[in-house]
Amino acid sequence: MRKVRFAVVGVRNFAAQHIKRIKVLVNEGLADLAGVVVRNQQIEDPLFEQLKQEGVRIYSSLDELLVAGQGLVDIITLPTSIHTHSELAAKCMKAGFNVVLEKPPVPTVQQVDELIRVEQETKRFCSLGFQFIHSNSIRQLKNLIVQGKLGSIIEISCKGYWPRDKQYYQRNPWAGRVIKDGYVLLDGPMHNALAHFLNNMLYLSSSQPQDSGKLKTVRAELYRANPYIQSDDTSCLLGETVDGTKIYFYVTHCSQNRVDPYMEIVGTKGKAIWKFNETTIVQLDDGEEIKFGNGGIDPWVEVMRVAAQVHLGELEKPYSSLENSRSFVVAINGAYLSSEKIRPIPEEYVSEHPTESRFVVKDIDNLLDQAFAQRKLLSELDLPWTASTREVDVEDLTVFNPFQEI
Ligand SMILES: NC(=O)c1ccc[n+]([C@@H]2O[C@H](COP(=O)([O-])OP(=O)(O)OC[C@H]3O[C@@H](n4cnc5c(N)ncnc54)[C@H](OP(=O)(O)O)[C@@H]3O)[C@@H](O)[C@H]2O)c1
Repeated sequence: MRKVRFAVVGVRNFAAQHIKRIKVLVNEGLADLAGVVVRNQQIEDPLFEQLKQEGVRIYSSLDELLVAGQGLVDIITLPTSIHTHSELAAKCMKAGFNVVLEKPPVPTVQQVDELIRVEQETKRFCSLGFQFIHSNSIRQLKNLIVQGKLGSIIEISCKGYWPRDKQYYQRNPWAGRVIKDGYVLLDGPMHNALAHFLNNMLYLSSSQPQDSGKLKTVRAELYRANPYIQSDDTSCLLGETVDGTKIYFYVTHCSQNRVDPYMEIVGTKGKAIWKFNETTIVQLDDGEEIKFGNGGIDPWVEVMRVAAQVHLGELEKPYSSLENSRSFVVAINGAYLSSEKIRPIPEEYVSEHPTESRFVVKDIDNLLDQAFAQRKLLSELDLPWTASTREVDVEDLTVFNPFQEI
């Protein structure tokens, strides 16, 4: 069987994870690591040294790969910063390569529409790195929803609190930024670290096998406790799809404790609970209970495997596509339009963690738990530092431009 030839842009941070997952396919005999792009070849990086020793071809820029990689590379993976996604993915497809683009897809709805256009025009594909869309548990849940087992989906809710310290925000020049070098970026818990879980909900809100639910309205609140970042770090969102499914999302990087993402799905015929370790319990109103987990499947490897299968024509489409991620981009743009600004949380409600280099919002774990349990936004809990936001209609949203007056 023909091996699919991958090239990865970068070796540091998440690029190292791409290389690790591609190597699983290499060991299975399905793929080759046909190249990596390392623009600063003076770096002292053990992975870079190892790849050189293994004889992996090193390119000094993406532009060099796009020319010299013709006929040697099939799929380029882009684990690059969020504000580069749109430009780099388009460039790769226009040069004739298929793409695995890391999540979040692109910051604005017009960019996702443009990439869909480029995908159609070039007849290449752009598969997204939303690994949970490739996971056993989310795919099984989707199947049950497509089969109508849960009935019509009334609401899907998720909370996740992942503390992030100073080092997280200092790992690269774009973390914690809303705009970088004039590009819209919108880093933050909803749009980056916990993005998967909003995307999962949107995906599960549609009963069509490949699709995500289309959003009609969004209301969101974006807050910031960290004094040295631009973006939000504590946020909540209420979305409603055109089919009437409500989506509730509660996230923070400033909690006392780590609370892994937890999702509840309520349908007219039953409900389901999904945990971050993929333990899933579906309880149907007729008494049937269905349980499953990760099924021994590593969703990060599946991101690469599915891309290889689409390249070989074994699968018609990527599981996580530009089309079914569009709703996620609309949700994020809608969140910014609704919130209008990122509100700093006053100092008296924020403390420094006693042993870790990070900030904690006073009582936020309990407050978000309460908001989640009552399906309320934080401003509805009567807190002194919150502000109620407007509901925005996003059904026909085609442009998000934060530089333009609202
Ligand atoms: N799926 C997941 O669960 C998950 C987890 C973490 C991150 N991510 C996503 O992965 C992406 C990258 O995140 P990160 O934190 O790893 O970013 P990062 O710290 O900026 O690292 C990105 C890597 O890409 C390289 N790079 C970026 N632009 C390049 C260009 N034009 N040409 C050549 N190399 C380039 C960088 O090279 P240099 O060394 O030269 O800077 C670096 O090696 C983001 O979209 C993020 O959201 C996904």
